[in-house]
Amino acid sequence: MTGHEKNESGHVPVLLTTVLDILLPSPGEKILDVTLGLGGHAEAFLSKVPPNGTLIGLDADATNLSVATERLKHFGDRFLPVRANFRELPDCLPADQRSFDVILADLGLSSPHLDDTARGFSFHGNAPLDMRFDQTRGMTAADLLNRSTKEELTFIFQEYGELPKTHRFVTAILAARDATPFETSSDLNILIDALYGHEAKFVYAQIYQALRIAVNDELGALKSLLEAASALLAPGGRLGVISYHSLEDRLVKHMFRALTTPQKDPTTGTISAEAKFVLLNKKMIVPESKEIEDNPRARSAKFRAIQKLS
Ligand SMILES: C[S@@+](CC[C@H](N)C(=O)[O-])C[C@H]1O[C@@H](n2cnc3c(N)ncnc32)[C@H](O)[C@@H]1O
Repeated sequence: MTGHEKNESGHVPVLLTTVLDILLPSPGEKILDVTLGLGGHAEAFLSKVPPNGTLIGLDADATNLSVATERLKHFGDRFLPVRANFRELPDCLPADQRSFDVILADLGLSSPHLDDTARGFSFHGNAPLDMRFDQTRGMTAADLLNRSTKEELTFIFQEYGELPKTHRFVTAILAARDATPFETSSDLNILIDALYGHEAKFVYAQIYQALRIAVNDELGALKSLLEAASALLAPGGRLGVISYHSLEDRLVKHMFRALTTPQKDPTTGTISAEAKFVLLNKKMIVPESKEIEDNPRARSAKFRAIQKLS
């Protein structure tokens, strides 16, 4: 399978060839996929690590986890699914499995999240505004719209959505929820259409993305993941992150720069500690136009990777 062919489930793992070429899963290695999704990258990894290489796959989403578990069951005990948020690393892992040769994070949502309108991630159709990856805990998008302060809402739409007319939009949310609390995507869409008029189609994606990032505290989770993952890598181990939003990519870039830069004594300027990691790609890698054509979701993907020195 090449990087942009669909596999048998019809799901396209983003940047697959690049991920395999750079993270180089090899026979006998231990892999941690912290965003298992439908198991596309995981399946490719597992087929590169026989006879005894293993993969632990994490996902916060129960539905995706069970689809991936079914798909990967033929790998037997070489595959272990774990229902967890990656911000719970390392505690969510079995106590004797805390060292990996390859770790992959392919952030954000998966195609079924958008396709299943009942999950509330999509602005198409009408469904309860949920947007939680893990539907057993935390606030839904409707809760967030109904309970957040004016300042919190302004931060969410300005920072995570870079939304024009944020102040007017937030004022409209506050007025609307006083009359009737938000429940469904249609409640939100009516407000968007009323405020943005013919520009509405340009801001839907920004508004829904901003809400999703806030509901799942995606940047907070990513920060915890990056801190935990560097400690979970074995000497020579590789960590790769595919991100889809400039705020995520900025976090990854800064963390990777800090890990790959020697520490200097602030007074003398001499190196006080060598860097423990190297960058595997100097510049972020983005998909080629053919992959974007085949899989529009890959459009905003950015891949960065580091290796722990032996
Ligand atoms: C882009 S998809 C991964 C697709 C996967 N690489 C594949 O090939 O099928 C991202 C997945 O990560 C999960 N996810 C997002 N944030 C998470 C988090 N903080 N902890 C655990 N899983 C998370 C989502 O539920 C989704 O299934």
